[in-house]
Amino acid sequence: MTTENENENNKKIPKHLAIILDGNGRWAKKRHLPRLLGHRAGLRKLENMVRLVKREGIRYFSVYAFSTENWTRPKMEVDGLMSLFRFYIRHKVEEIKAEGARIRFCGRKNKIPEDLLEQMNWAEEYTKDQNILDFILCINYGGRAEIIDAVNKIIDSGQKNITEEDLRKNFYLPDVPDPDLIIRTSGELRLSNFWLWESAYSEYYFTDTYWPDFDEAELKKALEDYAGRDRRYGGLKK
Ligand code: IPE
Ligand code: IPE
Ligand code: MG
Repeated sequence: MTTENENENNKKIPKHLAIILDGNGRWAKKRHLPRLLGHRAGLRKLENMVRLVKREGIRYFSVYAFSTENWTRPKMEVDGLMSLFRFYIRHKVEEIKAEGARIRFCGRKNKIPEDLLEQMNWAEEYTKDQNILDFILCINYGGRAEIIDAVNKIIDSGQKNITEEDLRKNFYLPDVPDPDLIIRTSGELRLSNFWLWESAYSEYYFTDTYWPDFDEAELKKALEDYAGRDRRYGGLKK
């Protein structure tokens, strides 16, 4: 399900770019600010990133914004994050739509406050005809949860033996191709339950920069690095 893409300069670009938005808390701490201000700065960064990613010719852009494990954080931080998501959706949908981007959410729908869920559904519906970029916000997403949810759907259907394709068809966003490149900011070298199944042949790029400081130059550096990678998928070098 992974396809190579090239831009007009024949440079290899990811069709699906995924970013693990990490380091908001440490960004705030460094400035003696509350963690939530770090999260606010992080969400702000996304606005511009959608534009930049689109300009690079990327077709799918997914971001890990809240994991199934992030509910274990203090209630104040979780509530604050949910409010920031509300604010972001309410105020940014128009701009994102104007960029030709379709907003999609990926993750479990339980636990998310009812009003936020309604807003998410509205934003998806409101932007569904945009087809330049799919901007995918992973909220209450966990790779293990996604696999388990897919397996349970298949069990409910009565099917006994499954193939990889059956599983894939039951994922949250079955039409979205696997991520070609996964960037993680803030110096952590792990996946933390993001795109677990889908990342089987993804390329990784790690940077020490905290997410709120990630900028165009950083993005270009990551894409440059990706363009030089040799992807073999277990086969022989072409
Ligand atoms: C990433 O920033 C955003 C979320 C996980 C919600 P963190 O909040 O994990 O920031 P650090 O890792 O503590 O710096
Ligand atoms: C991963 O970051 C989840 C998101 C960025 C949403 P975390 O900060 O939650 O991951 P760990 O705890 O460092 O692995
Ligand atoms: Mg973190």
